[in-house]
Amino acid sequence: MIKKIGVLTGGGDSPAINAAFRAIYAKASEYGYKVIGILDGWEGLIKGKTVEMDRELVSGILAEGGTIIGTSRTNPFKIENGVEKVKDNIKKLELDAIIAIGGDDTNGVITKLTQYGVKGVGIPQTIDNDINYSDHAIGSGSALEIVTDCLDKLHTTASSHHRIMIVEIMGRDSGWLTLNGGIAGGADIILIPEVAFSYDEIVDVIEKRRKRGVDFTIIAVAEGAKPAEGKDQVTASDELDAFGHVKLGGIGSVIADEIEKRTGYSTRAIVLGHLQRGGRPTGFDRVIATMLGVKAVELVHEGKFGQLAVMNNGKITSVSLEEAFKKTKPIDKELYELSKLLY
Ligand code: F6P
Repeated sequence: MIKKIGVLTGGGDSPAINAAFRAIYAKASEYGYKVIGILDGWEGLIKGKTVEMDRELVSGILAEGGTIIGTSRTNPFKIENGVEKVKDNIKKLELDAIIAIGGDDTNGVITKLTQYGVKGVGIPQTIDNDINYSDHAIGSGSALEIVTDCLDKLHTTASSHHRIMIVEIMGRDSGWLTLNGGIAGGADIILIPEVAFSYDEIVDVIEKRRKRGVDFTIIAVAEGAKPAEGKDQVTASDELDAFGHVKLGGIGSVIADEIEKRTGYSTRAIVLGHLQRGGRPTGFDRVIATMLGVKAVELVHEGKFGQLAVMNNGKITSVSLEEAFKKTKPIDKELYELSKLLY
């Protein structure tokens, strides 16, 4: 029988997570369940750091970005006796189920923990929007608005200075945000991790625009994009996080140097960085987060553990965690091909 549900957020934050807490609390209360917020992701379950969610805690948080219970990139499977500590704390805190909100790393942990007897369900939340079977991960819509707004703003200064502007956008292995943000914000060239790019093709587009009388170009590049003639992704540091990821960053500057060298045109690179994860969630993200939060509580209520609450083809449903995290969501190839016409 369910009495208490633990909720946590792991990995990179994004707007609208708090909207999910509000919905989880409301639905859980309807069933008579208590909700315990686990602080700072999996770290909170290792150290037993929690806060009880009550009406006061979840009031007034709907419009706030970030996560009121904190997040971290802690991986219990990389900590000595991590799984035992997690299981001990679940027992001590008398948690009957865990709802994990995050991207592939966080949900990867809950997937593995269910194999160790933990009763868990997941909710997709990442600005990368790269989770299979999930149309919209919480926060991805808000990040898309931010990228679009930044690209809109860059147009005026790029045009005034007759410049090439390279805009580096988050997305380690997924070009979803760059592709969609690039199209929405009118980028002339879009470079994503899924497709190696060619400097010759970039210069070709810049020159075609010039021939048409347009002397500025905006290039949207995902942080994980690579040139066909290069080898590795550009990294900001070689240090690996607990999930084995290096810190990416710098591809925009690398491209800017090369383009300026090849064309002689004034070129600048800017990194949107963590701005993409901040601020107020969009209305759409708040609604998605609300529906996914409610669905996750329903899954717990029905005893359907090992499931991920998703919006799939426009419908709120669930898919097995195992199945969802076999591979990342592939990019929409048709949309990418279409984007090449838009310069
Ligand atoms: O996981 C989402 C993400 O935003 C990636 O796109 C990006 O590479 C990473 O987080 C950056 O994470 P951090 O907050 O650790 O710098």
